[in-house]
Amino acid sequence: MNSSADTEPWWRTAVVYQVYPRSFADADGDGVGDLRGILAHLDHLEALGVDVLWLSPVYPSPQEDNGYDISDYQDVDPLFGTLADLDELIAALHARGIRLVLDLVVNHTSSAHPWFRESRSSRTDPKRDWYWWRPPRPGFEAGAPGAEPTNWRASFSGPAWAYDEATGEYYLHLFAVGQPDLNWENPEVRTAIHTMMRWWLDRGVDGFRMDVINFISKDPALPDGRVVAGAAGGTAPDGLADGTASYVCGPRIHEYLAEMHREVFADRPGTFLSVGEMPGVTVDEARLFTDPGRGEVDMVFQFEHVQVDQGATKWDHRPLHLPALKAIMARWQAGLADVGWNSLYWCNHDQPRVVSRFGDDGAHRVASAKALATVLHLHRGTPYVYQGEELGMANAPFPQPQNLRDVESVKYYRSQVAAGRDPSEVMAEIRPVSRDNARTPMQWNGGPDAGFCPPGVTPWIAVDPDHASVNAAAQRDDPESVFAHYHRLVELRHREPVVALGDFTMLLPDDEAVYAFTRELDGVRLLVLAHWGAGEVKVDVPDGAAWADAEVVLGSGSGQPPAMVETDGTWRPGPWDAVVLRLPH
Ligand code: GLC
Repeated sequence: MNSSADTEPWWRTAVVYQVYPRSFADADGDGVGDLRGILAHLDHLEALGVDVLWLSPVYPSPQEDNGYDISDYQDVDPLFGTLADLDELIAALHARGIRLVLDLVVNHTSSAHPWFRESRSSRTDPKRDWYWWRPPRPGFEAGAPGAEPTNWRASFSGPAWAYDEATGEYYLHLFAVGQPDLNWENPEVRTAIHTMMRWWLDRGVDGFRMDVINFISKDPALPDGRVVAGAAGGTAPDGLADGTASYVCGPRIHEYLAEMHREVFADRPGTFLSVGEMPGVTVDEARLFTDPGRGEVDMVFQFEHVQVDQGATKWDHRPLHLPALKAIMARWQAGLADVGWNSLYWCNHDQPRVVSRFGDDGAHRVASAKALATVLHLHRGTPYVYQGEELGMANAPFPQPQNLRDVESVKYYRSQVAAGRDPSEVMAEIRPVSRDNARTPMQWNGGPDAGFCPPGVTPWIAVDPDHASVNAAAQRDDPESVFAHYHRLVELRHREPVVALGDFTMLLPDDEAVYAFTRELDGVRLLVLAHWGAGEVKVDVPDGAAWADAEVVLGSGSGQPPAMVETDGTWRPGPWDAVVLRLPH
């Protein structure tokens, strides 16, 4: 049984807001968001009530992957401003009681980073071993098809190895060609990263969101991956294989994270947050990573619930089966109930917009955005809100291939069309899942370009035309808005210890239209009910009669007041109704 001890870490009652700077607000009129744009909108964050801002990368970068390809860890790209702007942001946030967490991208650097330039300069350079260099596959001529040292596929299509003609070897890049993987086996690499992290903490930063941090330890043998049979039973059409078994939560990952914690955080006075992004992490691994006694990270981002509507690949988009989502969420809640901690998210810069993905971005946009938010924020863990989610921003319309901006989508499109597939069929796959859906400009108002950039400037990615009605200005003072609802959820977490810390019990796991659970702490119980859809529904709520006269903590949906549990213990909600009830009254 969990209890509300005063010794709970601060981030257990916190809500984090993610800013993707390129798409947040453009102050200098180059069509790309920047730090001064963020500084101009801090009132928005304060009004929402969030505790932490996680800032996606603003470091110098060739921008092959929008800043997740870093060429200097200790500066700011002129595209986003200056180091002085960042210092100002830290101070301005702190003055409002908001902490700043930076993105730490240290599985790889940019190929333009001086470390990599030195590394690739010759086979005997002292930094050669800072990256993963390998000769061609035995029996193959360097540069020839199939000569890559392993058969691994990169995350962004194509082989995970790039050939360097000058030195006759290949380097590993699990992501884009311009994102070479650092070799964490080399202690000099680890020391350089710890030093850089301390430099940021000295500057006033409050922690890090650690990009694909569970990929940093690779099996040094670099074995070939398992070739996944295609539909016809042969090899995959690109002839490549999944190498993840060699680097997802690899052999030394716990050692590296414990060392990082020791070297960077352990002896430092202050209160920090570390969250590891961990594709492919299991509940059991996550419990180890987030066990406070082990000193690794505070929480992780797991991916199971955002893969629930995917087939073999992310491009194979399937309709959501609600019981499958509930089973995943319940397993994570149970697995980290006694030891460890969950991060809670529907959205980020890599995921399509949740109101389009799991909700209804047409007739029930507002109600479904609120219901989805209620469900997520009432789980045990630390919720993350991605810019625009608090407005119910929807997926972008991408009518044409030339509208795509994201390296992952662009590469996928090109590789599929090159393989002979029908372009319109490929676009149909990309549209619902592209990362660009999350990256359309933040919708500040209903004016030209949604108030994202100064008048007359063309944004780097098209603004969603729905900004005429879906925007911050229209919602900030409207008590019925999605924004107001998010604000109430943040406040509720701050005020009610049961929301942050209470035990979680999933109800009605097999119901395909209602998401229901209870939370409990020190005699206080909450019941959360959400109608996941718009059809006619009537459910028998377990122990339902007891809730008939419970206090309504929060309600949203079609009717006012929201649908209550009836005295016979049934619940008959309208479209996308959601309600949070509390006992004792
Ligand atoms: C993470 C980031 C994503 C990036 C990738 C490579 O998944 O969230 O945006 O492309 O890592 O750095």
